Amino acid sequence: MKALVLAGGKGSRLRPLTYTSAKQLVPVANKPVLYYGLEAIRDAGIHSVGIVVGDTAHEIREAVGDGSRFGLDVTYIPQEAPLGLAHCVLIAREFLGDEPFVMYLGDNFLVDGIAGLVEAFRGSGNDAQILLTRVAEPQFYGVAELGPDGEIIGLEEKPEHPRSDLAIVGVYTFSPAVHEAVRAITPSARGELEITDAIKWLMDNGGRVRSHFVSGYWKDIGRLQDMLECNRIVLEAIEPNVRGTVDGFSEISGRVLIEPGALVENSVIRGPAVVGADSKISSSYIGPYTSIGARCVLENADVQYSIVLEDSAIRGVPGLTYSLIGRNVEVSRARGVPNTHQLMVGDHSRIQVRA
Ligand code: G1P
Repeated sequence: MKALVLAGGKGSRLRPLTYTSAKQLVPVANKPVLYYGLEAIRDAGIHSVGIVVGDTAHEIREAVGDGSRFGLDVTYIPQEAPLGLAHCVLIAREFLGDEPFVMYLGDNFLVDGIAGLVEAFRGSGNDAQILLTRVAEPQFYGVAELGPDGEIIGLEEKPEHPRSDLAIVGVYTFSPAVHEAVRAITPSARGELEITDAIKWLMDNGGRVRSHFVSGYWKDIGRLQDMLECNRIVLEAIEPNVRGTVDGFSEISGRVLIEPGALVENSVIRGPAVVGADSKISSSYIGPYTSIGARCVLENADVQYSIVLEDSAIRGVPGLTYSLIGRNVEVSRARGVPNTHQLMVGDHSRIQVRA
């Protein structure tokens, strides 16, 4: 069995961050979301992985390399334009050969991994298996409708009036029968070859398609609130460890991981939280559900429930909450006195807030 990981796309809902970096590389608890997916694939016993890349190919290649770091053998498959998930299967034909495969969207996050799904698929004789979960806003996803015995009776991509609240999760397993399906379908209203249409085609043409419910937590990290929630979930289970230096005037409580080379002085950190390697935290408060990336500087800052990426600095700013701060960002104090800020700031930005 092989894996096909999709790491192209524009990440438009995470702009401006995704103007300068791939959305699959945005970190959750200081680790790119894509790495969790690659680890899940390895843990499901799959070794050979094709990664479909687009405009951000260079970055993805730099981050993942030949895959050996993950125990994987990675082949890159360039996609000239984001023409849809089924188009990715089309261009991966040669790589996939006649083996069954799992298709994994690189911006999807499953806490419980995919070993269960892959196991259920092996030897099942199914042509496709999809994963479902209940969501509050099904109109933003592929949606499945199930019959009284749990059989799939309808599949629709981002329907205006969804017939159920069952979203299709971005991890699928396929037999080689899917190749005929992706050749047979035509582009959707948004101009893409939809994998949902290919699965529907399989069903309509005698293929065996089954669904499973996701057992644990799942998120498609498309939006700011999804990123923050994923970060919270991962931090809740983080192994606390102080690998950097914490001075005697600081107080650390709860699950807190301080990575090597980080320095914490005269500060309070209430976990769950992570402070990245070589960061410097002085006279600051870091509250629950916060990930501070590598080489950041916090001085007289107060940050909670936020993600701060590498090489950024926050100085003299209280009340920073529910924020995603890009790389090389500087947030500093301006004159005036309001007290909370909610920011979504792109890489290399310079922001001055009233504080
Ligand atoms: C894609 C699929 C959709 C699925 C979703 C899961 O949507 O087309 O059916 O529910 O992934 O993440 P997209 O991310 O392309 O909007």
